[in-house]
Amino acid sequence: MIKNGYGKLLDFQVNGNDIVINYEHNKVFVSIIRSTIINFFVPLFRKERNSKAVENFETTHRKFEIKAIENGLEIITEKLVVKIFDYFKTDIYDKTGNLLCQDYRGEKAPFERRFSDYDLLAAEGHKTNANSDEKIYVVKKLEEDTYFYGLGERSGHLNKKGYHYVNWNTDNPAPHGETFDRLYKSIPFLIGIKKNISFGIFFDNHFETTFDMGRDNKDYYYFSAADGNLDYYFIYGPSVKEVVENYTKLTGTTPLPQLWTLGFQQCRWSYGSEARVMEIANSFRKREIPCDTIYLDIDYMDGYRVFTWNKEKFKNPHAMIEKLKSMGFKIVTIIDPGVKVDKGYKIYDEGLENDYFAKDNQGIVYRNEVWPGDSVYPDFLNSKTRSWWAKNQKIMTDYGVSGIWNDMNEPASFKGPLPDDVMFDNDGIPVMHKEAHNIYAHFMAKATYEGLKKETGKRPFIVTRAAYAGTQKYSTVWTGDNQSTWEHLRMSIPMLMNLGLSGIGFCGTDVGGFGHDCTSELLIRWVQMGTFTPLFRNHSAMGTRDQEPWAFDEKTEEINRQYIKLRYKLLPYIYDMMWQCNKTGAPLIRPLLFNYQADAETYELNYEFLCGDNILVAPVVEQGAKVRTLYLPKGDSWVDYWTGEIHEGGQYIIKNVPLDICPIYIKGGSVLPTYEVQNYVGEKEITKLTLQVYLTDENTSSTYNHYVDDGESFKYMVGEYSNYKIKVTNGEKVEIKLKVIDNNYKDSYKNFQFVFHNLKEKEVIINGETKAVDDKGKIVIIKP
Ligand code: GLC
Repeated sequence: MIKNGYGKLLDFQVNGNDIVINYEHNKVFVSIIRSTIINFFVPLFRKERNSKAVENFETTHRKFEIKAIENGLEIITEKLVVKIFDYFKTDIYDKTGNLLCQDYRGEKAPFERRFSDYDLLAAEGHKTNANSDEKIYVVKKLEEDTYFYGLGERSGHLNKKGYHYVNWNTDNPAPHGETFDRLYKSIPFLIGIKKNISFGIFFDNHFETTFDMGRDNKDYYYFSAADGNLDYYFIYGPSVKEVVENYTKLTGTTPLPQLWTLGFQQCRWSYGSEARVMEIANSFRKREIPCDTIYLDIDYMDGYRVFTWNKEKFKNPHAMIEKLKSMGFKIVTIIDPGVKVDKGYKIYDEGLENDYFAKDNQGIVYRNEVWPGDSVYPDFLNSKTRSWWAKNQKIMTDYGVSGIWNDMNEPASFKGPLPDDVMFDNDGIPVMHKEAHNIYAHFMAKATYEGLKKETGKRPFIVTRAAYAGTQKYSTVWTGDNQSTWEHLRMSIPMLMNLGLSGIGFCGTDVGGFGHDCTSELLIRWVQMGTFTPLFRNHSAMGTRDQEPWAFDEKTEEINRQYIKLRYKLLPYIYDMMWQCNKTGAPLIRPLLFNYQADAETYELNYEFLCGDNILVAPVVEQGAKVRTLYLPKGDSWVDYWTGEIHEGGQYIIKNVPLDICPIYIKGGSVLPTYEVQNYVGEKEITKLTLQVYLTDENTSSTYNHYVDDGESFKYMVGEYSNYKIKVTNGEKVEIKLKVIDNNYKDSYKNFQFVFHNLKEKEVIINGETKAVDDKGKIVIIKP
């Protein structure tokens, strides 16, 4: 509620999909976006909705009924019943009468903080209870059996019940721990599950916001904001999958990436000279460890001036990048927002001349300090600044750079935080830093996306550290400066799963850890897990020991090679999942509950995940572990990827995990498309798709959609792709139906190869024809 309250409900008017409710002290706007999405809006700060995340606030007419009830009104959509009462108390039910989300009727009563001299502290004006300083808050009744997820990048466990988090993009270089209530990204989107029914709350407010899932008081959960409008969406499932799909309908899905971006990526702060970069590149090729991408961190620049090169260390960047390209490497360069204060430096001069930088409250260009020393901050909330920044991408793409890594865009500042009143022109509607902060990186990503798209004509590859809800439309993310510790390997799993549930489908952590020195065992276990995360990038900090895949001993190198090769084998599967993600928002890395919500045993599994629909991964996250306990969800059987052993779902099992084994299970009856392993995407002409069919002893039936296109351009948007539907039935006989749904990608496969696992017979039926299966490999080849 808002502190000054609403008072009694006076009356309401219906206008298309919008309902205006007049209260004694306020007006509330309720919009029926879909039968499953309701928006609640109170213009406390600005008259209009001011969303930076939602670009498709659909207003086509929806079917719903509305009627007056005692002390309020009732809205009935095809899926929901929403009751709104005096004081804007709102209760939401599903159509069968399950209460999904109820406004708390009591007073907010946070716990007291304990101090030895409590009275003295209180007298001195210190905060003695847990309340945040919020202007707006909405308090919901918390019930025992509620589980919470989402909220973007968070330390701590998968289920967010009992946690309290703040959305204020923050670069805190100390080792991230469960005590951190804020990190680099702000995604004010919470998912709840109660009795197998799921719903989402998207609080679209980019001031500092807080979510409390019962830390303050076990009777309620709440979200609040320092300022701004009250603008939130209730999103109904009933499955988490549908909640995520609906949320990404509002804020956008992850675009289909270029295929090479799903390969292995190698980074370091910094590969600081051409010689070193070439040494790394040659090493990958000589050792036959696949790799597509090498990153250049800040030291490639001239004195950390963005869009420049240090020509002593990199004499001819263009020639170097051409050479790397001929070896199959793509180069991604870091770009920070901070522009060095330096008369005569083109970017600084242009920005100053054209008024592209943020200003202090006196109208003077605001300065703080980042890597280049004294620096100024582009006003990314301004479209003219964004166009300029977009054009600047050409400087990098002309050198042959293939992707851009946006860092320090919280924005970070070494000389204390930016004051609240640093001003952003925001296309003539000035906003203060406190309103601009959480969306700063979002608009930097948008500018970068538009620039790269224009200059290259390809699907832009951008990695960003800070983000807001919806940033997934422009950029992939990584989780910032983790450490080479087991604790951080563990933490990264629920962190990435919750990022995925928060719409960020393309994400990853620094594999091997950024700060601190990695060990051989930690690197192996991290590479094993990274093999199944969308962004698969090894990165480490200045001054730490080497952690390239070969940096330890031969055994470590061999295991790393084996997993990186597995990643390349699985590329068509991972690409399929990214295609799905683009259509429905379903993330590649996801908690088991995403597919097995009916099995409540999956609700708190922190250290295992699904990689798409068909692969379950339970990474080893403890040094010296010899066994790993893991849960296989109910409803399917699971095939051990390594041994072929079949396990029934709905049980915990113990798997032996020598160093080279990361537990991987394939869903019984399912199909995995695989490619021949390459050293980089495009090394080999792929003419054959291998479909690995995982059979079990039970009768199963499954379908799989495989998608293929040129893997880089936007031609798929005009239909240049092929799409195949593969149906596998394991009944009396094993029967496969391969149907071509779309066939517009001219370089699609010439052959399909089937590899059967656990096949009992000597023949299978493919598209109605009986085919003999080869004894050793059990392989059948057919033409499409
Ligand atoms: C920041 C980034 C890190 C990068 C470093 C130097 O700490 O998070 O990834 O290597 O800056 O640019």
